[in-house]
Amino acid sequence: MESHALDSLDFHTARALLEWQVELGATEACLDAPVNRYETPKAAPKPKVQAEAPAPVTRPKVDPVAIAREAAGGAKTLDDLRAAMGRFDHCNLKKGARNLVFSDGNPAARVMLIGEAPGRDEDREGKPFVGRAGHLLDKMFGAIEMGRTVPLSAQSIYITNVLPWRPPQNRDPEAEEIAMLKPFLERHVEIVAPEVIVLMGNIACQAVLGRKGITRLRGNWQEAFGKPVLPMFHPAYLLRQPSAKREAWADLLSLQAKLRDLA
Ligand code: URA
Repeated sequence: MESHALDSLDFHTARALLEWQVELGATEACLDAPVNRYETPKAAPKPKVQAEAPAPVTRPKVDPVAIAREAAGGAKTLDDLRAAMGRFDHCNLKKGARNLVFSDGNPAARVMLIGEAPGRDEDREGKPFVGRAGHLLDKMFGAIEMGRTVPLSAQSIYITNVLPWRPPQNRDPEAEEIAMLKPFLERHVEIVAPEVIVLMGNIACQAVLGRKGITRLRGNWQEAFGKPVLPMFHPAYLLRQPSAKREAWADLLSLQAKLRDLA
């Protein structure tokens, strides 16, 4: 009987047929095709698991400048602005910094100073210009009877930096870093609303005026944020080049004259 015919039999019919064959003298059950029982069975081929191609990750494109603009735009006060900067996670400098260095001095001051970025001392203390360059800066402004701790707004200064986080090894800030933090700087200027801005060094000039070349720029009044802006040598440069203090002194006198004119 062909095996495929047996497939369709029910149990009892198949059993009756088998018993009948035994009665006829059958001693062995044979299949239609011979079977070599000494052959080792081939390992069943493993089912091929098709590696599924990972679904393409489509990350939403972020525009850190637009995010910074929105965050800064929502700040009504300096405290709001500081908090908004603290929440901004798109600048890698933040990861390596101990503190956000926001500002120092009197927010009611007529003069706002913009430096470059915190160094080691500033990063540690959370205040701008507290290291060697900061001491020189205090002396320079002290020479025209101005300072960050002076309560009178006419004689006080307010200090911030282009970047609130220390770049590793004090390297120059990258253009991308400057661009993404500029909306915060713009809002900072809007909230403080100083009469005059002093840009300390090349990086501040690059960020605010879009130009470098402090040797040419210094001492020449410019306009930015709708205000008179004076580029000056950075005090860290004056520490390395004391002979440039002569020009720095001329610039301080120019600032004094401007404040007198505007008063
Ligand atoms: N140099 C800067 O430009 N800013 C600081 O706060 C300290 C050093």
